[in-house]
Amino acid sequence: MFPLERPRRLRRTPALRRLIAETSISPTDLVAPLFVSEGRDEPRAIGSLPGQVQHTLDSLRTEVGRLHRLGVGGVILFGIPARKDERGSGAYDPDGVVQVALRALRDDVGDDLVVMADLCLDEYVTHGHCGVLAPDGTVDNDATLPLYAATAVAQAEAGAAVVGPSGMMDGQVGAIRTALDETGHADTVVMAYSVKYASALYGPFREAVDVTIAGGGDRRAYQQDWHNRHEALREVRADVAEGADIVMVKPALTYLDILADVRQAVSVPVAAYQVSGEYAMVKAAGERGWIDEGAVALEQLTAIKRAGADFILTYFAGQVAEGLQA
Ligand code: PBG
Repeated sequence: MFPLERPRRLRRTPALRRLIAETSISPTDLVAPLFVSEGRDEPRAIGSLPGQVQHTLDSLRTEVGRLHRLGVGGVILFGIPARKDERGSGAYDPDGVVQVALRALRDDVGDDLVVMADLCLDEYVTHGHCGVLAPDGTVDNDATLPLYAATAVAQAEAGAAVVGPSGMMDGQVGAIRTALDETGHADTVVMAYSVKYASALYGPFREAVDVTIAGGGDRRAYQQDWHNRHEALREVRADVAEGADIVMVKPALTYLDILADVRQAVSVPVAAYQVSGEYAMVKAAGERGWIDEGAVALEQLTAIKRAGADFILTYFAGQVAEGLQA
């Protein structure tokens, strides 16, 4: 009898393939990033992210209701404030754009859907960096931590079930956890953007949130260098030791090796962020008819989960959830 190995036997019918599938995507695995803009009357399309918009409070509530009905696992909010300043005060203002949105969503969906808030200063500061600046123009790590702590408390108070620190300051998770615990928010989950590379794939996002880094600068002095693999584990171990409930790897598809390493190294849930550039590339090729957009999206999301992600932040959340329903 030759050949002895007949793997094709198990691929013969769709039912057999479904039965033995190791990994599959369901809507609950997906978290939709959403942008909410302060003082806008109409939602505004984001050119670099087809299908995504800067929401008004009303359109945000409608969209979250739709995503909830589709069975999507959660949403994560990013704010676009009407005014920016040097210290990013809109991020921790109790009446800041994200806090107002969180309170509204709390009324609408409560805890039926996991409502998260990205926790960073970049959308709120004039210079576009993720922290406050020292007199010499560098990002001041330790001066930024109290502002992150204040943001976490404001977000928790407004009803965020999960806060997601994304600024890559050393010690940010510990500072946030301590502040939350001291203010009676012991149940607020910290999802740390633990492994976040200084990626060119964030380009479309910066347009989405109207962020320009002053002086043509970049984030390489705080986000990770993508030449490196080992420091990813230092970052996740530090965050878990500081109290991270969930760790994240970002971007996702270009970093599947890192995702697999992280999955092996820790026992907390692991999230992955399929970022704006990853989404935009698929959408652009899809619009040209070069690829089947929905099929590629599902294949990529499945690969991200197969590599170790328990759930995925993705701009495809609504679209893929709709596709899975059909
Ligand atoms: C920082 C933040 C960024 C993203 C998520 N949180 C931008 C950055 O680090 O420059 C990028 C997300 C994406 O590209 O989809 N607030």
